[in-house]
Amino acid sequence: MAGWEAAPAKVNLYLHVTGRRADGYHLLDSLVAFAGAGDRLRLEPAGALSLALEGSEGATLAAEPDNLVLRAARLLAEAAGIPASGRLRLEKNLPVASGIGGGSADAAAALRLLDRAWGLGTAPEALAALAARLGADVPVCLECRATRMQGVGEILSAAPAMPECGILLANPRLPLPTPAVFRARRGDFTPPAVLPSGWADAAAMARSLAACRNDLEEAAISLCPPVAEVLAALAALPGCLLARMSGSGATCFALFPDAGSAESAAAILPEAWWRWGGGFTNPPLPAYSALAGGA
Ligand code: C5P
Repeated sequence: MAGWEAAPAKVNLYLHVTGRRADGYHLLDSLVAFAGAGDRLRLEPAGALSLALEGSEGATLAAEPDNLVLRAARLLAEAAGIPASGRLRLEKNLPVASGIGGGSADAAAALRLLDRAWGLGTAPEALAALAARLGADVPVCLECRATRMQGVGEILSAAPAMPECGILLANPRLPLPTPAVFRARRGDFTPPAVLPSGWADAAAMARSLAACRNDLEEAAISLCPPVAEVLAALAALPGCLLARMSGSGATCFALFPDAGSAESAAAILPEAWWRWGGGFTNPPLPAYSALAGGA
């Protein structure tokens, strides 16, 4: 049986709201990268499909039928015309409703893990289409490596070549519902970013990203003022190259020249916050890449 499947935290290094669709969904341009922090998912042999929640954040989530992991499992089984079976164990380490895609990462991990465990060999494009039905961020989480995301999350393209660098995540332990943040957003749309083909080092990447923004930051702060405190605390850390909110918050991130300095900076932040410092993860997952040239 398969081992643990990683469901790494996604970080929106920038997020531009470029427009709005007639159905109310927002058009985005975002560079998404994945941190070494994450949830983990495992399948054990059993009859009927079930989900057990573990980990430090497991108690904050109920294993209800609408849990994204169960929805992903049922959707994949239905598409393949097989009964969904097995006991899923989700080790929940990421705070819930926090802008780093916990639920989306878990759903994507479920699609990858179950497609393998059930021996389906679903085509990458078909798996990506199922992912899009589960949520706007699930296709990018299926890629599980730095990717540029556009449209409402379904248009994926290769990210610029990213240098080694460190990342620190901090969350004030206050959940922020994504729809409320999008509703509270004010102001014009922002054009898509102009990005180079790659960055030589972390400082160059941070300089380039500083010309971009997270268009949901102001709205998130209006609903959850402590986000501003987190951003200020991150910006003041020694060695911080850039501090910004991820997704619809409330998790914020700081970029550092290397994983070690991000890890030691985490200890300086208030203990009441959820904190994680380390590097990015870029696991090779060619079998599941819907990106052109992603073989
Ligand atoms: O797709 P997902 O369930 O993650 O999105 C949650 C909510 O966030 C949506 O119902 C919508 O209100 C908002 N959203 C949006 N535009 C996007 C993604 C999400 O307006 N591109």
